[in-house]
Amino acid sequence: MKKILVIGAKGLLGPELVKVFKEDERYDVTGWDVEDIDIGDEKNVMEKITYVRPHVIINAAAYNAVDKAEEPEGFELAKKINGLAPGYIARAATQVNAIIIHFSTDYVFDGNNPNGYDERSMPNPISKYGESKYLGEMELKKNAQRYYLIRLQKMFGKPSGNPLAKKSFFEIMLNLARTQEVIKVVDDELSNFTYAPDLAGRTKFLIENELPFGIYHITNEGTPVTWYGAAKILFELADMKGVNLIPVSAEEFPRAAKRPKFSILINTKLPPLRSWPQALKEFLEHQHSLLNEVSK
Ligand SMILES: NC(=O)c1ccc[n+]([C@@H]2O[C@H](COP(=O)([O-])OP(=O)(O)OC[C@H]3O[C@@H](n4cnc5c(N)ncnc54)[C@H](OP(=O)(O)O)[C@@H]3O)[C@@H](O)[C@H]2O)c1
Repeated sequence: MKKILVIGAKGLLGPELVKVFKEDERYDVTGWDVEDIDIGDEKNVMEKITYVRPHVIINAAAYNAVDKAEEPEGFELAKKINGLAPGYIARAATQVNAIIIHFSTDYVFDGNNPNGYDERSMPNPISKYGESKYLGEMELKKNAQRYYLIRLQKMFGKPSGNPLAKKSFFEIMLNLARTQEVIKVVDDELSNFTYAPDLAGRTKFLIENELPFGIYHITNEGTPVTWYGAAKILFELADMKGVNLIPVSAEEFPRAAKRPKFSILINTKLPPLRSWPQALKEFLEHQHSLLNEVSK
């Protein structure tokens, strides 16, 4: 049996990775989160990984507070968890001869190119968070030969079990719609979305097809939209007609970190995923059946 280790198993993506491999009896899956390993502690990483000796290590742990990373304290933590830790895990993976899979973001690009960014495009982060993730990409490449570096953007999926975890955009919008009749949404930052279960499935696909190591862009397909455009599609699909959405400029909601204007990840290596509205429809159906279960 192939031993898979998922780190960050309690986040948004981690549980989907654990699930997709657990459903397949050919894999022996271990899921770890902060209580099991501190990826910012190099010694702890080496000890834990050399003890378990997995065949594949999937690192879905990260520091994702994009605005907090602009502050000195937040940036130090982002550099440690997003920047240096992937190097520690990569070194441990090399030590036990494991394949390592690590996730990065569209925010490593400056977002000035309206045509988007493919796997060969040159990163040029415009925020401290982007800088920390780019450092992680370089540390990964420096310390591992057998790696998959997967960039994704704007992920959504089943809310993570942690009440303090950052909520996905669609969850925030659905919550706002319960309390507000008018919702102002930034009509800026053109991009696509990534459905966590679809990304987990493609991650398994990479391993099983033994595709060449290197960089991959995995997001759902579909017409890129702004946050406002995405909210419009969400409420149409959810059949919530009473919500009054107002498009506003980014200046109306000042945020500490700069966001890229055109944040489109182009995939030139893999079969395309379904469109993000199709995935969103499935997500809403799941949410709906969960709510029905709870209210029974
Ligand atoms: N979510 C998005 O929209 C998005 C977009 C682009 C790229 N990505 C990338 O995709 C990957 C998965 O993201 P995600 O949204 O699933 O992340 P997430 O929900 O924030 O989950 C990350 C997990 O890592 C844990 N963690 C944090 N510090 C750790 C440490 N020192 N040691 C061990 N575990 C630690 C977190 O625990 P705590 O919650 O207790 O800190 C959390 O359970 C990340 O690489 C992220 O940068 C995500």
